This record gives sequence, C-alpha cells and structure tokens, in this order.
Amino acid sequence: TTCRRLLTPAATALRRYYSPISDSPRNRVAILGACGGLGQPLSLIMKRSEYIAELALYDKVDTAGLCADLSHISTKAAIKGYQGSDQLGDCLTGCSVVLMIAGIRRQPGMHRDSLFQQNATIVAELTDAVAKHCPKAQLCILTNPINSNVPLAAEILKHRGVHDPRRLYGITTVDSVRADVVYAKLTGHPLDKVSVPVLGGHSGHSLVPAFSQAQPHSRLSPEDVRRLTESVRGAADAIVAVKAGGGSATLSVAAAAHRFVNSVLLALDGRQNIIESAFVESDAMPDLPFFSCPLLLGQNGVERNLGVGQLSEYEAELMKAAVAELRVQIEKGQEFGLAWA
Ligand code: LMR
Repeated sequence: TTCRRLLTPAATALRRYYSPISDSPRNRVAILGACGGLGQPLSLIMKRSEYIAELALYDKVDTAGLCADLSHISTKAAIKGYQGSDQLGDCLTGCSVVLMIAGIRRQPGMHRDSLFQQNATIVAELTDAVAKHCPKAQLCILTNPINSNVPLAAEILKHRGVHDPRRLYGITTVDSVRADVVYAKLTGHPLDKVSVPVLGGHSGHSLVPAFSQAQPHSRLSPEDVRRLTESVRGAADAIVAVKAGGGSATLSVAAAAHRFVNSVLLALDGRQNIIESAFVESDAMPDLPFFSCPLLLGQNGVERNLGVGQLSEYEAELMKAAVAELRVQIEKGQEFGLAWA
C-alpha cells in the first residue's frame, strides 16, 4: 500500500487530535543525555506529556539540578535522575521507551557525518546498556549522524541477541515538520491539516521531501518544488549558521522528538492509526537496509512500513543520489557496530 493512500486527511487528523487513552499512564521513559542543550528542553516538554508515568533522566553530570527543577512542575510524570555510567543500568531498568540524544552537536562548517567519530562510541555504549537492561524497549535515536548510528545500534543489539527491527528508530520527525511548515506557508493550507512525507535519511542529500504526495494536495510549479526542497534540506544548516558557534537546532528538534515519542507511546497503549515517519530497518528501497518513510505504529513498535509511494520525476532523481549517500553512511555504522561488538 502506498503512503499516499494511507496518509488520508482522516488519518492525519487522527494523528494530530488524539486524546489520552487512559488517565493513568504506565510508561517509564528514559532520556539519555538529558542535561545538554537539547536534553533540557526535551526533558521539560516530556515532563508535560500525558502519556508518561515516570521520566528517567540520565547524563554524565548535572542531573540533580535538572531533576530538582523539573520536579517542581505540576504534571503527572514523576522525575528520577541518574548520573554517571554506574547508574545507567538503574536508569534503563523498566523503561518501555528510551530516547538517546547524548553526544556532541554540530558547529558551523560541520556535516552531521563529521560527528560520527566522536558519537559512535557513545551510541555503542548506550545501546549495549539498553540491550542489557531493557532489551524490549523502543529505542529512539536522535544522536547524529542518525544515518550511521541506527545501523550501528542494530549491530550491537544483534550481537546481544535482542534485535527486533520493530523497536529501533532514528527520529526524523523534524524533517517532516520542516516540510509541513514550508508547504503550509506556500499553499495556505492550515498547518494542522498538512502532511508531507519526507523519505530517505537525515542529512542534506539523503532526505527527499515528497511534495508530490503532500496532503492536502496542491499543484506546485517545478520552481516552487525545488525551492521548498532546498529549504527543507538546508534547514538544519541554516540554524547552525545563524547560531554561529552556539550549536545546532535544539528547540524545534525537541518539539519534533516529543511528537514522535508521544506517538510511539500512544501506539504502545493500543491507539490505532498512528502514523509517523522514522529511519528504520526496511525493505522499502531495494538493496538499502535502512530507510526513513511513513510507518504505521502499533503495540510492538513498527506494525507496517507504508513504503515510498509514487515519486515525481524530480523526486526520483533526488532519490538516486540520496540512496548512494545513504548506502555509504549505513555501511560505516554497520562496520563500526560489528567491530565494537
Ligand atoms: C537537525 O536536523 O537540526 C539536527 O539533526 C541537528 C543537526 O545537526 O542538524
């Protein structure tokens, strides 16, 4: 089934306007890397989630202050802090969802790929701990480069004998949000009704916004499609440039990750018709083991991959280059993961 058929306005509306499925949330959610520039706003926004019973916040330093501060907010989610690798196991035990954001972030002139050298070991160690302490958790990775770190994590989970492709995601929601925002602005469609699939990976040349499949449909000129595509592909670089040494996007990435994790939690709790895109193990593209496209989420994680759908000629051309870039980055992650494990 193509995502064009499944991403009907009704499905989109369901995705956006769900209400809590139960008044007593059950899920314990860990954030690994909670005290950094992304971790703090993400922890704050997750503290306000109605679907979380307990938020387990982990970092190497400074968790006590963050947790004391957050615990004064009168929302349901209880706060527990864990500091240093000695406490990582306790942090992860009992978690149904783990949000991995630890690692260094970009500075001007860097690609996401430039972070691999330093972040790969962090991702490997944290994934190994997830495999040991909460092997059934949904593992959602935001640490860049996502295109390499998700395949890396898959190798570690396989080595530990706990890999289930339905439970491992690279969060690419911010790309979908960026595409929705520029499309809504150009077409005038209300933002809460708009949905633009973003396919491929999470880097400038590996992500392909499929404006031809956007809902509600509007006919765009080739110039407009090119302009919108460039703006989505360059959005993260634009933020890195304007922050001029202050790092990369944090608030928009936190908001997007919050949407994704809430969707995962709702699906775990039995809510139907939850659709989000993410970078997962997939056979959506021949010869490419990982790919981001819209997914139907369920009680075990990915229930159905909704596939690539029909691409325009322009999108298909972009996809060729995207696949070539992705292949290299996926292999790099797999090789590191194999060697580390
Ligand atoms: C983003 O898309 O903004 C994040 O992945 C951060 C980055 O370095 O681009």
